[in-house]
Amino acid sequence: MKWWRDAVIYQVYPRSFADSDGDGIGDLPGVVGRLDHLAALGVDAVWLSPFYPSPQADAGYDVADYRDVDPIFGRLSDADKLITEAHARGLRVIVDLVPNHTSAQHVWFQAALAAAPGSRERDRYVFRDGKADGGPPNSWQSVFGGPAWSQLPDGQWYLHLFDTGQPDLNWDNPEVRAEFEDILRFWLDRGVDGFRVDVAHGLVKQADLADWHLPMIPLTTEGTEGGARPPMWDQDGVHEIYRRWRKILDSYPGERILVAEAWVQPAERLAAYIRPDEMHQAFNFEYLEAAWTAAAQRSVIERSLAASAAVGAPTTWVLSNHDVIRHASRLGLPVGTPRPNGIGAGDPQPDAGLGLRRARAATLLMLALPGSAYLYQGEELGLPEHTTLPDESRQDPTWFRTNGASVGRDGCRVPIPWEADAPSYGFGPSDRSWLPQPPVFAELALDRQVGVPGSTYELYVAALRLRRETGLGHGELSWVDVPGEVVAFRTADLLVLTNFGATPAQLPEGAEVVLASGPVAGREVPTDVTVWARLS
Ligand code: GLC
Repeated sequence: MKWWRDAVIYQVYPRSFADSDGDGIGDLPGVVGRLDHLAALGVDAVWLSPFYPSPQADAGYDVADYRDVDPIFGRLSDADKLITEAHARGLRVIVDLVPNHTSAQHVWFQAALAAAPGSRERDRYVFRDGKADGGPPNSWQSVFGGPAWSQLPDGQWYLHLFDTGQPDLNWDNPEVRAEFEDILRFWLDRGVDGFRVDVAHGLVKQADLADWHLPMIPLTTEGTEGGARPPMWDQDGVHEIYRRWRKILDSYPGERILVAEAWVQPAERLAAYIRPDEMHQAFNFEYLEAAWTAAAQRSVIERSLAASAAVGAPTTWVLSNHDVIRHASRLGLPVGTPRPNGIGAGDPQPDAGLGLRRARAATLLMLALPGSAYLYQGEELGLPEHTTLPDESRQDPTWFRTNGASVGRDGCRVPIPWEADAPSYGFGPSDRSWLPQPPVFAELALDRQVGVPGSTYELYVAALRLRRETGLGHGELSWVDVPGEVVAFRTADLLVLTNFGATPAQLPEGAEVVLASGPVAGREVPTDVTVWARLS
């Protein structure tokens, strides 16, 4: 059995996980200090968002040096220690690789700025002359809002699909390819078990850089099914890059993995990233975005399993991460609401109770599905999105680049509460926290949940333990016909049922509940509850 095929992988967002020095920003020694929490929770691996030297124009997804650690997060030796200490606890370590763009402070981009148009230095990025009318080379708009091109004093423009501080690299340039292969080796040699590949569907652009008329380019290819593929996403040329990387990873012992952040639909196009000689996993964002109805959930599960099985790969389930509204809040919005890019104090507020109830049901459903699953820090505490952050504390470039039209992603990035009665709820030794924490974090703090029957933390611990013991996550799933608006299937000798309907669903005779996301009475499964049951 290959470990990653059914692994539960926990995303650590270092700036918000644990702060060891009291500056209000989490750091790598902070992560090391909390590894016992991850081991106790029962996950298999940790994925760390970027901790490399960076001006932090996009919270570290603007990398100035791919082979070091930013002083706000610690030193390279702290990364080494983290890898060693995680391995000592049986936890694997995945780091983030950001190959679509560098920081504008990267030596390469600084050299490109100093060099002339047409130079070798500029060829590592996407520099172009403007149109005859003096405008940018094409109509592309940044994912974060505003134009995707910025102009230099000498008249040339450079492409940045994200912030101006994130110039896109030119992946037709062999030097760029060689550099990233070397970066992979650098971290593999230090012992990492894999890479999460940022914007994996964006590296190669359509050669003619054809216009694309959308006011703000969505990160996803959703909705383009049957139509033209956006010229900046999911070009066939990306696959050759990952085939090369796979060979490098396979030359190291111990099943090191690549996981694609590729916002690609339909599922068949996404599955191309996880063909046997490419990546191992690709986040299933179509699942993350599926509506909370039995029909939508069953349909996305069926399509995802079929598409990944066709290439012999597992499906990689995910409900939350550092870019989306936490599922405990997302699921508290009216069913069918398109996923907003952040929620602000002036927006309709999610129903917190309903959201948490559904989030627990969703998690228990996800953790029973065959394949690998990713958890995002704090979801094991049932943390909601911070939906009333003061505007002056916002840091997401989206907020600035849309002039406040999109509040952006800060609300899911708020530092984690570990202790209800400590300063910064135990995030660090001081009361500083780079984003303010909402008062509800007191009751949700870890120390208020450990050992408390029915707490979200204990639900996660029990689910992960049972998943291991019963072999959930591998093998097949077979659908079971149960009346009502339910998703029901058998897998690994368990019956799994989620009730989406307004009235209770009835478990088959002989079913004995072994774990439930909310209180159940006998064989009756209430609305918005998932159960795992044994059949006698
Ligand atoms: C990915 C990251 C996101 C970042 C963007 C640009 O989508 O997850 O946080 O802003 O890429 O690097």
